[in-house]
Amino acid sequence: MNKATILVVDDERGIRQSFNMALKDEYHVLLAGTGEKAIDIFQKNPIDLILLDILLPDIDGIDLLKKLKHTDPNTEIIMVTAVNDLQTAVMAIKLGAYEYIIKPFIVDDVLTVIGRALEKRRLVRQVAYLRNELERYQPFEKMIGKDKKMRSIFELISTVSQSDGTVLIQGKSGTGKELVARAIHNLSPRKSQPFVVINCAAIPPTLMESELFGYNKGAFTGAASTNMGKLEIADKGTVFFDDIDSLDINMQAKLLRIIQEKEFQRLGNTRLIKADLRFVAASNKDISDLILHGEFREDLFYRLNVFPIKLPPLRERMGDIPLLLNHFFKLYAKKSGRPQKTVSEKALKVLMEYDWPGNVREVQNIVERLCTIKQNSVIQFKDVATLIISKKKITDSSLKEAVSSFEKQYIAEVLEMVNGNRKKASEKLGIHRNTLLSKIHEYDPHI
Ligand SMILES: Nc1ncnc2c1ncn2[C@@H]1O[C@H](COP(=O)(O)OP(=O)(O)OP(=O)(O)O)[C@@H](O)[C@H]1O
Ligand SMILES: [Mg+2]
Repeated sequence: MNKATILVVDDERGIRQSFNMALKDEYHVLLAGTGEKAIDIFQKNPIDLILLDILLPDIDGIDLLKKLKHTDPNTEIIMVTAVNDLQTAVMAIKLGAYEYIIKPFIVDDVLTVIGRALEKRRLVRQVAYLRNELERYQPFEKMIGKDKKMRSIFELISTVSQSDGTVLIQGKSGTGKELVARAIHNLSPRKSQPFVVINCAAIPPTLMESELFGYNKGAFTGAASTNMGKLEIADKGTVFFDDIDSLDINMQAKLLRIIQEKEFQRLGNTRLIKADLRFVAASNKDISDLILHGEFREDLFYRLNVFPIKLPPLRERMGDIPLLLNHFFKLYAKKSGRPQKTVSEKALKVLMEYDWPGNVREVQNIVERLCTIKQNSVIQFKDVATLIISKKKITDSSLKEAVSSFEKQYIAEVLEMVNGNRKKASEKLGIHRNTLLSKIHEYDPHI
């Protein structure tokens, strides 16, 4: 685990040394004898906590506190003071210092206060992360698939999760790109750290920088408080750039730099922030095509595409449909507390013939609709036919095909309703029995 970094600011060499002795086993310690030196170190290093002497030769301790807190309100500051200066210490707390300790100090007390301050810092970060996760909470985390293509993708996921190389996931909408990105994170050594999603299509280009880098109070009109950027929140974890193709071309250049340097600055702040990040990106577009049209930077593409993962559309892995149906029926039953539904053989046949333009997400949606509107425990042909016919009407190219597809499904549905009795069916359909027979033969010559 990474050690936290503590900056000790005190003009007395003896005090600096005794803090150093007390802390150096557990923490990474930096020392400054003047306020100016402290600011310099603070600008150049990631600092988790500062022990700050109130009486400094060059800068008033309170002024320095204000300045440091303004630069980074997330750095905890503990004031170090003499007994006769308690009033100033109290003022420091009001200005955002975490606590004060009185000289001469007892080492154990100092360690306890530092431990609590760092725990608070960790919690602040965790809350920011959880808030981000809550917005994107997805109950369906398990990846299903036994098709050969999917099995090799699972293998790829477990291999790449062990490295820090960037991953580019490509596939049509609903094929499971986000699920793959999460799986990579969850199998990696970073799994207990944040997985932060940047939705490039949903964030307007003008807000992208503040979203990624964060900003200081007053950095721009409307920046009422200092905010951590998503990259800072993701420190030690994984950042997932979803719909990377929507990233503005100027931001693409900045992202490239960040992937290379792993450091950035908050808006309105010159201090460099370093973050230990793993980058994963996804797109449902063909990026090489965008490169040809000058809409995507080739250098960024190569940077991202260290590990390419291509998710096949569902129609190329139809064997997985029964598994996916069962998976979603099971999940829905769990969520609703009702018994799990199954599908009849005929219904399954229709589902296996459908070409699923919305991929796995469409399977999930259809299961959810069937569970909500149907009371029967076994989903029948007619239950799915009505859902899928209306979809086919939209996706089929010609009107003639759409009409005949509807006719076929409708006849089959009516026949099922009357238990295959053709006389009754022809009456219901309002056509002659012979017309019905020829249509049945046309649609299914085996009957
Ligand atoms: N192999 C799978 N097993 C189980 N669930 C899956 C699988 N693939 C996708 N899903 C589920 O389908 C839904 C869509 O997946 P996901 O959001 O990952 O797709 P996507 O490729 O990111 O789509 P889009 O491009 O539209 O954002 C999610 O609810 C996901 O949990
Ligand atoms: Mg997605």
